[in-house]
Amino acid sequence: MSNVEAAGSTEEIRARVDKLLAGMTLAEKAGQLTQYFYFGGNEGADEWANEQSRQVEVALGRGGASSLLFVRDPGEVNRLQRLTIEGNRHGIPALFGFDVIHGFRTIFPVPIAMAASWDPAAVEAAQGVAAREARAVGIHWTFAPMVDIARDPRWGRIVEGAGEDPFLGAAMAGAQVRGFQGDHLGAPERVVAGPKHFAGYGAALGGRDYDEVNLSASEFWNVYLPPFRAAVEAGAGNVMTAYMDLNGVPATGNRWLLTEVLRGALGFDGFLVSDANAVRSLATHGFAADLTDAAARAVQVGLDLEMAIEDPAYAHLEEAVEAGAISVEAVDACVRRVLEVKLRLGVFDQPYVDEEHARSVLADPSHREVARLAAQRSAVLLRNEGGLLPLEPARLRSVAVLGHLAASRRDILGPWSFEFDLEETVSILEGIRARLGSGAQVTHAPGVRPPERLFSSIFDSFPGNVPVVADGFDDDAELVRAVELARSSDVAVVVLGEWQNLVGEQASRSSLDLPGRQPELLRAIVATGTPVVLLVMNGRPLDMRWAAEHVPAILDIWYPGTQGGTAVADLLFGDVAPGGKLPFSWPRSVGQVPVIYSHTTSHDPDKQAERYWDEPSTPLYPFGFGLSYTSFAYSDLVLDRHELPAGETLQVSVEVRNTGERPGDEVAQLYVHQRYGSSSRPVRELKGFKRVHLGAGESQTLRFTLGPAELRYWSSAARDYVLEASTFDVWVGGDSTASLGASFSTTAAGVAGTATAG
Ligand code: BGC
Repeated sequence: MSNVEAAGSTEEIRARVDKLLAGMTLAEKAGQLTQYFYFGGNEGADEWANEQSRQVEVALGRGGASSLLFVRDPGEVNRLQRLTIEGNRHGIPALFGFDVIHGFRTIFPVPIAMAASWDPAAVEAAQGVAAREARAVGIHWTFAPMVDIARDPRWGRIVEGAGEDPFLGAAMAGAQVRGFQGDHLGAPERVVAGPKHFAGYGAALGGRDYDEVNLSASEFWNVYLPPFRAAVEAGAGNVMTAYMDLNGVPATGNRWLLTEVLRGALGFDGFLVSDANAVRSLATHGFAADLTDAAARAVQVGLDLEMAIEDPAYAHLEEAVEAGAISVEAVDACVRRVLEVKLRLGVFDQPYVDEEHARSVLADPSHREVARLAAQRSAVLLRNEGGLLPLEPARLRSVAVLGHLAASRRDILGPWSFEFDLEETVSILEGIRARLGSGAQVTHAPGVRPPERLFSSIFDSFPGNVPVVADGFDDDAELVRAVELARSSDVAVVVLGEWQNLVGEQASRSSLDLPGRQPELLRAIVATGTPVVLLVMNGRPLDMRWAAEHVPAILDIWYPGTQGGTAVADLLFGDVAPGGKLPFSWPRSVGQVPVIYSHTTSHDPDKQAERYWDEPSTPLYPFGFGLSYTSFAYSDLVLDRHELPAGETLQVSVEVRNTGERPGDEVAQLYVHQRYGSSSRPVRELKGFKRVHLGAGESQTLRFTLGPAELRYWSSAARDYVLEASTFDVWVGGDSTASLGASFSTTAAGVAGTATAG
């Protein structure tokens, strides 16, 4: 019996909710709106965490909590579920949520890497596996995908999203929601998806995590909203609010944002959760007077579940109702949505998990294959002078694998990984060794120590999360040792970047330099004259100006996950060719930030590259850029019509040919530009893409459709979506500088949709 059958029809569910609600006290209702962190019992849980967890158990035992996050062991899920069900008169079970961001036990590449695959099917498959593993241990719901557009790489959370572009972001958002949730809420072996953080969080002032966001209406509707729209259209059952102030009003208490935009314009009808402690922090922001006011104002805007660590604001809901600050009906509306999702998921009928089954799902070897493929597909080749890559194993006698990240199993997994199994994780060094076998001598030296953060972050407390420097590590001697290994080897594979907790939440930076002494190490290795392959392990663009001129081969491998080492070896030795493309414009230096490809034409476009007198204002690598071991050519760009009445579509076709001698993947990208209208439009906007595999000499005709969905935009002049009579340019090619173009006109204008003026 599927969960849907178990759950019953919508009417039956609503009737059950009504019945439950009718018998609940206000305190019980407040309990249903409260979600707690639970760290107790986990490896690394300290005195505070264990005490906090004891308090949570007290709350569960008296019906004071509805949901828990961070419980990951199926036995613990069952124990706490029993406590919950027995702790309330109505037998209402708990919902277990967790940050399943890029894998549960099997860790996939970080989300920015998966976006670089430009392969929604691979991303959907990966999140399907993540859902299967999480659901097997009893997790019902993931706080993912993170769909925040990020245009400022100083912001550490750029690693969790799909980069700078709304179209690519929307494609990735939809794919992830489908992967997590399947085709309906409550599908077997799937979890509820919770796109976050609604909305605009990626535009934090100065790239400083949590700081305020000031977004123009045009950026809000045209850039930051589309991935959320796509996630909602894909059926996301949950949305998480954001921490920061949006144009002066905290997102978590922002009536316009949550009711008019999310529930109104986007039509979201699922349940809303706050980010951690974000209801309490309505008071911290200087928005709510106190916790009672914070609770009342959050319920007023339809914030259903408060995610809390301790002392939830919703514990003050009874006071708020008594004081007349909030009505019981408003509280009931939130409780309804929470009960409804529990019923829809079938948690009432099947609250417990089978621990044996969980173990076998986690051990499924096919999951590791999906991870290997995802890692292969997300790597981006940035430089390959003289065709240094792929390396030929038969011609190599010695390889030096250098850098402190090269041998690390923890760092290769990236941030936001918790339940990984280091035993089955393959480091870069191990992947290369396994691929070369006894055919070549593979040596390793870290060269430099991992750089330190100025302050520690919440994630440092998880076991193994901070790199350990060997006792007596002699910095100068280690650097020399690494350089000597490079000198005496046929090739040096140098792995540089940021160890995993230098990026992510609470990991913004004021610089994009390779941190620590890594630049010095790289220069010294290159100076030996040994051919160098630089593998960049990162979740954001780093300053590669020197490398882009002096290092012959640069492959961005991101944090590639459990199978990262194996996949990287597959790529280095040419078993597969890299085919990923950049999901952001790669800045030359931090001073250019933010740099985007979709800026408007503005004044004096001929001098677009000369906006700074001390550095070109173009990026180091354009959005959508990525090389292969072969080459591609585009031709025969054909539009099936050149006059397009509003509301109709046209077909674009183009031929792409593999002009090299090896097979490879290409991501064909379609960009448009509206020449004039009620607003100035970006010089280019991505409106279609396709990743194709082509054998040597092979070609394929690709087809794209352009219509109202691609051509409408939100105009600041009309304060609504418009579809205008204009002339449009179209380009198709391998990155955002594509030169093969055509044009067409739209002949009638119209308002293309209804938004809520912002
Ligand atoms: C993050 C969220 C995350 C939550 C729970 C918060 O600090 O902003 O993205 O889902 O913690 O771990």
